[in-house]
Amino acid sequence: MQEHAQQVNGNSLDLNLTKDWAAEWRAPLSRELDLAHDQLLGGDISRGMHTLLSALGHARSTLVPEDWRRFCLDTCRTHPVHSLVRQEPFTRRGFEKPRQYAGDAVMLDFVYEDLAPERLGTTPIGVGINRFLCAQQSTASLRGRRDYLSRYIDRVSGERADARVLSVACGHLRESRRSLAMQQRQVGEFLALDQDLRSLGVIDSELGHLGVKPVAGAVKDILRNQLRFEDMDLVYASGLYDYLPQPIAIRLTAQLFSMLRPGGRLLLANYADPHKDAAFKAYMEACMDWWLIYREESDVAGWMSEIPRTQLRRQELFRDETENLIYLELVRR
Ligand SMILES: C[S@@+](CC[C@H](N)C(=O)[O-])C[C@H]1O[C@@H](n2cnc3c(N)ncnc32)[C@H](O)[C@@H]1O
Repeated sequence: MQEHAQQVNGNSLDLNLTKDWAAEWRAPLSRELDLAHDQLLGGDISRGMHTLLSALGHARSTLVPEDWRRFCLDTCRTHPVHSLVRQEPFTRRGFEKPRQYAGDAVMLDFVYEDLAPERLGTTPIGVGINRFLCAQQSTASLRGRRDYLSRYIDRVSGERADARVLSVACGHLRESRRSLAMQQRQVGEFLALDQDLRSLGVIDSELGHLGVKPVAGAVKDILRNQLRFEDMDLVYASGLYDYLPQPIAIRLTAQLFSMLRPGGRLLLANYADPHKDAAFKAYMEACMDWWLIYREESDVAGWMSEIPRTQLRRQELFRDETENLIYLELVRR
């Protein structure tokens, strides 16, 4: 382990902390992983997952980030419990990243929909773990976000018959299933933008009859002004900003805002600080190798910094009911 040095009065003081400490924390954590493994293998999924999440949450909150990363790599992913949790398809797909990143649309479907065991295509342990993960606050937040978006689309289309809507990084656009306006083709124009052509293929085949238009494009195309839409009533992005560094988030927000007509709305979301449902976030990082950017309200408010204040009619920052997600809603003057 790396040794830590601290500057005291200009002198370098070798605390040699991590080296000794590593031996102290590694053994009890490994024992907790052993216990979780035995409980899962014995069929007590709930107890096994609680043991695992609580051990990971504790490790994440006590280790310095560098030791935490090392623990994920050297201890957690080499432990047999990792093979067990990879029987769960959301976890496995996150970890394997067949599309080069965690959080693709296929993966989200494993927690969006209450899929029957045969559709999960895995072992009874995998099904049990999927049920457990679907009952956690963080996945409930994802479903809550999807439902909130569907109500938001309905509201905007209710206010204006020919509303034009753009979903940025749309994935499989699962909010469309719950939006009455979309199901009844009451949205003037619906553009679904994503860089993932396979996800757009699903949209085309499943939602083409509702008038949804897939648009192939990436954030960089928007930032370079190579992809631009005008007079939008609603532009929104969910599950995108959690991956974007702050300077990109700021530029993208200004660019998307500039696509709105007067009175148009921009709605953005980001996972809140890692202390909410911390054990689940530890599981995402340790077992799924899924590292999101968690933000505080002040970070999200910072996204507005390149929008001229004179163009802002209203701005609102709020959390979802689980306080796990932060939303930013902007209305153009
Ligand atoms: C976590 S999913 C969210 C999907 C959907 N919006 C939702 O809320 O379920 C992230 C989506 O962002 C897309 N994405 C990621 N980076 C992107 C980029 N730079 N440009 C366009 N799309 C991107 C991915 O292809 C994926 O469909």
